[in-house]
Amino acid sequence: MHEITKLPEMRAWSRAERAKGRRIGVVPTMGSLHEGHLRLVDRARDRGDRVVLSLFVNPLQFGPQEDFARYPRNLARDRGLAAQREVDCLFAPDTAAMYAAEPLVRVSPGPLGETFEGAARPGHFAGVLTVVAKLFHIVEPDLAVFGRKDYQQALLVRQMVQDLDFPVEIDVAPTVRELDGLALSSRNAYLDPDQRRAALALSRALRAVEQAWRGGEANPAVLERRGLEVLKTPGVTPEYLAVVSETLQPVKQADARSVVVIAARVGPTRLIDNVVLGEGVANDVSVRGA
Ligand code: PAF
Repeated sequence: MHEITKLPEMRAWSRAERAKGRRIGVVPTMGSLHEGHLRLVDRARDRGDRVVLSLFVNPLQFGPQEDFARYPRNLARDRGLAAQREVDCLFAPDTAAMYAAEPLVRVSPGPLGETFEGAARPGHFAGVLTVVAKLFHIVEPDLAVFGRKDYQQALLVRQMVQDLDFPVEIDVAPTVRELDGLALSSRNAYLDPDQRRAALALSRALRAVEQAWRGGEANPAVLERRGLEVLKTPGVTPEYLAVVSETLQPVKQADARSVVVIAARVGPTRLIDNVVLGEGVANDVSVRGA
């Protein structure tokens, strides 16, 4: 596995591989890798010839009160996991390499970046899209793979690629869950055992909405009330639960393409999750003890 920290070196490696006719897939991450990230690597490998895993905790996408400083970082462990999964190139720049100075120009996410996660985390999606745009310019991939767990992020990346004509195919992979339903997230590392148990309320609420919908209920307000009943458990502070269209717009009637998006605090930790009603939580990937 090549390990690269410098931008020009990354670009040169990618260009050399493409010159040999190889299709390059990138998996952008902030490290602290778990099985969810590694499944993205598998998809990139299935759909291309070379896999670049980027690993960069992007300060631009954290608010001043957020967890940038304590975000879990473990390069040695991540390196081992990436090598085991046969990543071809680990791109792990430091902050000075990515941002010689704080960028004055940022990618504006537009109205889709103002709702849900964008409303809760002002500036977050401008930070995400700016770093993803930079990664696309540095790696020049043919394909980029994102997880559906960050539904709004994936939607915004697709929108950016379309609106700004990036020649990159975007693939969005199903959420990976532990067997009890908890969606994998690097932030799960913050949860103590009681909080870990309480966090199951998110996937339970998604299942409850899905069941009610499969039982014939299509009124989004009724479905949302059902989800909130399940989400409101001791130790969990709901932030939002909404039944919306695939582009996160309000719907009059829920259908198979509708998405249930959810955010809640479990103790101090903010978690998000979602399900596409027609696909269902059970159709996400389940893994043991990730
Ligand atoms: O999903 C993430 O880990 C980050 O938002 C991303 C896409 C790597 C950008 O920093």
